[in-house]
Amino acid sequence: MIPQSFISDLLNRVDIVDVVGRYVQLKKGGANFMGLCPFHNEKSPSFTVSPTKQFYHCFGCGAHGTSIGFMIEYSGMGFVDAVKELAQNCGMVVPEQDDKIPPAQRAQMQAQSMALSEAMNLAADYYKSQLRSAPNAIGYLKSRGLTGEIAARFALGFAPNGWDNLRSVFPNYEALALVEAGLVIDRVDEEGNHRKRYDRFRERVMFPIRNTKGQVIAFGGRIMEQGEPKYLNSPETPLFSKGHELYGLFEARQAIRDAGYVLVTEGYMDVVALAQMGFPQSVATLGTACTSTHVQKLLRQTDTVIFSFDGDKAGRRAAQRALEACLPHVSDNKTIKFLFLPAEHDPDSYIREYGAPAFEQQVHEAMPLSQFLLRVVSAEHDLSEPEGRARVQFEAKPLLQAMTPSALRLQIVRGLATMTQSSPGEIEQLYELSKPVAEVRRAPQRSSRPQPVGLELQIVRHLVAHPPLAFTIDEAGLGAFTNFGEEAAERLYQLIAAAIALGPQGSFAALAQHLKEQGSEYDGIISEIAAEPESDFDAIKTYLSSAIRQIRTDALKAELAQLFASGLSSSEIGVRYREITAMQDQLLREAEAELSAR
Ligand code: GTP
Ligand code: MN
Repeated sequence: MIPQSFISDLLNRVDIVDVVGRYVQLKKGGANFMGLCPFHNEKSPSFTVSPTKQFYHCFGCGAHGTSIGFMIEYSGMGFVDAVKELAQNCGMVVPEQDDKIPPAQRAQMQAQSMALSEAMNLAADYYKSQLRSAPNAIGYLKSRGLTGEIAARFALGFAPNGWDNLRSVFPNYEALALVEAGLVIDRVDEEGNHRKRYDRFRERVMFPIRNTKGQVIAFGGRIMEQGEPKYLNSPETPLFSKGHELYGLFEARQAIRDAGYVLVTEGYMDVVALAQMGFPQSVATLGTACTSTHVQKLLRQTDTVIFSFDGDKAGRRAAQRALEACLPHVSDNKTIKFLFLPAEHDPDSYIREYGAPAFEQQVHEAMPLSQFLLRVVSAEHDLSEPEGRARVQFEAKPLLQAMTPSALRLQIVRGLATMTQSSPGEIEQLYELSKPVAEVRRAPQRSSRPQPVGLELQIVRHLVAHPPLAFTIDEAGLGAFTNFGEEAAERLYQLIAAAIALGPQGSFAALAQHLKEQGSEYDGIISEIAAEPESDFDAIKTYLSSAIRQIRTDALKAELAQLFASGLSSSEIGVRYREITAMQDQLLREAEAELSAR
C-alpha cells in the first residue's frame, strides 16, 4: 500500500502536461492543452489536458484521469508501477508502508536500476550498430523474409563473434552493473578465486525486449546456424522477469488499440514476422508458459485476447496452460480465444506459406474459451459411459472453480451439464459454485447506492472538485448531512474523510485518483468536473456553507411542522419550539454575517 498522502504529493509535484506531452503532441488552446486523443481514433483534437486541474479529458470518447491514470491507460502498467515511474521522474522515492528498507538503501537501489537500464541501452545501441556491418546476419534476417524497416522497428541487432566485445562499449567492463544486467557472465575457478568475465551473447541475432515504457530490459539472441541453444535469453535480473514481460508489447501497443485485439504467440520470430505481414498487434511470451500476470497485462490493453499456438503437441500443452492463466480473469465483457494452426506450423511459417488472408481467416475462426475448455476436459474420456462423464466433471472442477461468477461461467456449466447428462444445478452444487467467490472478496458494491441528486449532488461535486473544502465543514454541518438519509450521509462522510486524508493541499486530481481506485461510483462526477472550466474556491466555499445552512434550516422547519402535528401539549412543545427558533435565528445571523463579509 502506498500512502494516500504520497499520491497527493506526487500529483502536486508532477505536471500532467509533461507526462501526457511525452506521448501525445499537445498544443496550447486557451487555459488547456489540446491534442489528438490516444485512446480513440480521431482526426481533429478533442483531447484536453488541464494544467490547473492536473487532469486530462477527452470530449470525444470520455477518457479522463490524472497523470497516474494516464500512465496506466496509455502504457498498460499497473497502479504501483505508474506511481513508481512518475515518482522516479521527479526524484521522489515511493515509500512502502511496511518497508524495512532504509531510505539510503532504497536510493542506492534506484541508482542501481538506473545503472542497469543505462547498460542495457548502451548494449542495445551497440548490437544495433553491429547489425549494419554484419552481412551474414542481414542475410539471415532477409532469408527469414524480414525487411530493414521491420528490423528497425524491433531494433534488431547482432552480437558479433568474440568473447569480450562489450569491453569496447563500456568504459569499465568490470562494472557490477554488467553482470547484474545479464550482459556478461563471470566464470570463477574452483577455489572461487580467479574470476574471468565474458560476454553472454556471441554471434547471435539480437532481439531487444522492451518494457511497456520502451526501455530495453532484456535480450533474446538467436543462433544463425544449427546449434544449441537456439535462443539464448537474458537471465532474470532486477529489470527483467520473464513471467511478467511479453515480447513486442511496447511495439504493438497502438496496433492493439487499432485492431481491437491482441494476438499472443510463442516466439520472437512469430511476432516479427506477423508484424511484417500485416499483424502488428502481436506479442509473444518469452519461452515460458503464459502466466496470469501476462493475461492481466494484456487485458489492460484490450478486451480481446487471441492466443495463437503452434500446432504441435507442445503448442496444445501451452494452450492449456494459457487457458488456466486466463480463467481468473474471465468476465463477460472480455473475449478470449484460441487459435490452433496445423501441426507442423507456427504463426510465422503459416503466414509465409499461406499468406495474410489465410491467417486472418484463422484469427476469425479462433475457438472461444468456453468451447476450448469443454474440449480440454472431455478430450480423453468416453462420454457414453457414466465413468467417463464423471471423469469429465472431475477434470472440469478446478477450472470452473478458478472462474469468478459470470454469465459465461454459467454457460460453461450448462454445456458441461448437457455433455455429462446432468443439470446445471447439480454441477454447481457438486463444485460448490453457488458461493459467488468474487462478490465475497470484493468490497460491497458501492455503485449500487443511489446516485446523489439535488443539493446533495452539488455538495458532493464541490467536495470532489475542491477537497480542502472538507476542512471547512464543522460538526453542525456534518450533522446536517443526515437529513439526506443515512446512506447519503455515509457517502458524504467517506468522501470528506478521503478529502481530509489528502491534507490541506489535496487536489482534485489526487481525490479523483483515490476515488477511481475504489470503483466507478464517482466516474460521472469526475468526468463532469474534468470537462468544465475551473471554479473559484472562495465562491464555492461560500456556496457550501450556505448550502449546509439551507439543509439545517429545512430540517428545523420540518421538525417544527412535525411538532405542531404531534398533538403534544403546548408546554411540552414549548421547550423544543424555543430551541428551534433560537437555532433558526442563529442561522440567519450567520448568513447575514457572511453576506456582509463579502
Ligand atoms: P524460429 O525457429 O527462429 O522460428 O523460432 P521460433 O520462435 O519458432 O522458436 P520455437 O517455436 O522453437 O520457440 C518458441 C520460443 O521459445 C522462442 O521464441 C524462444 O523464446 C523460446 N526458445 C526456443 N528455443 C529456445 C532455447 O533453446 N532456449 C531458450 N531459453 N528458449 C528457447
Ligand atoms: Mn518459428
